[in-house]
Amino acid sequence: MIVVTGATGTVGSKVVSGLRERGESVRALVRDPGSRPAGWDEGVEVVAADYTDPTSLDTALAGADVIYLLVAVHPEMAQHEINVIDAAVRTGLRPRIVLHAAAGVEVKPEGVRFLSAHVTGHAHLQAGGLPWTVLAPNGFHQNFLGMAAAVKAGRLTAAAGDAPVSWVDARDVAEAAVAVLTTDGHEGAVYTLTGPAGLTHDEIADQLGAVAGRTVAYQAVEPEAALAGMLAAGWDPWRAEGLIELYTFYAGGGAGAVTHDVEKLTGHAPRSFADFAADHAAVFRG
Ligand SMILES: NC(=O)c1ccc[n+]([C@@H]2O[C@H](COP(=O)([O-])OP(=O)(O)OC[C@H]3O[C@@H](n4cnc5c(N)ncnc54)[C@H](OP(=O)(O)O)[C@@H]3O)[C@@H](O)[C@H]2O)c1
Repeated sequence: MIVVTGATGTVGSKVVSGLRERGESVRALVRDPGSRPAGWDEGVEVVAADYTDPTSLDTALAGADVIYLLVAVHPEMAQHEINVIDAAVRTGLRPRIVLHAAAGVEVKPEGVRFLSAHVTGHAHLQAGGLPWTVLAPNGFHQNFLGMAAAVKAGRLTAAAGDAPVSWVDARDVAEAAVAVLTTDGHEGAVYTLTGPAGLTHDEIADQLGAVAGRTVAYQAVEPEAALAGMLAAGWDPWRAEGLIELYTFYAGGGAGAVTHDVEKLTGHAPRSFADFAADHAAVFRG
């Protein structure tokens, strides 16, 4: 039986559906049992648990053979990963853990809190003695859905500099996860999941403009100005500062490399940003 954490989210909900399509026995860990994503069949076992509540994790992980470990971006995200790993050890069944981290986790860049949290989780996993695999996706195409209003107004504003980033589609991340969860031979591997090419924000703006049917211009802003804008818009400071750290890593060229791990795991080439933009054209059209 495969336990999927983060099961209601962008990637986790697709992992659950993908596993069920393969006929796997799936238990989905959710905080609110009433929030069952559309598209899950009745065969999905739903269990309520919280990363902050070890007793609930013991119940949720009981009998697991494999665990997909995905935590949300949160100030305590490293501790959340540690709590799930410790609960997995306590089952006494030595389940295999597939940790959903982020590209850069192997490089261990200083001062990028989202990545540092996954580095901590990975180290705890290695120390825990269970069989493990890490999936390290680059930034998701789907992040740009949150910028649709600006795109409709002809702008793409970010503190992303001019360096390319090999964005990956969350659908490919989920398919890669399903492959790793359902096949053997992945112990100790760190798979860095990227799209087929590195793209600058100028190129992203052009591709969004093509599907939006208008000119979209990238406006590079300084990190300080971007942070001030997010705080003024009511962003949580920890998350806003973390995003600036990540974009500074991007702007420094830390996320441009392309790997072949999506194709190796899924058997097909990764979706391009143009594929993503075309699939979501209605979102970006005014
Ligand atoms: N976005 C990117 O570009 C990107 C790129 C690479 C890696 N990542 C990594 O991907 C992860 C986020 O993936 P995602 O975008 O699929 O996540 P998401 O859509 O934000 O979903 C987060 C999931 O975690 C659950 N959750 C939150 N707090 C919880 C708690 N205390 N106990 C139990 N469950 C809890 C949520 O459940 P509820 O429904 O109850 O809220 C939801 O199912 C992060 O670890 C991030 O570092 C993101």
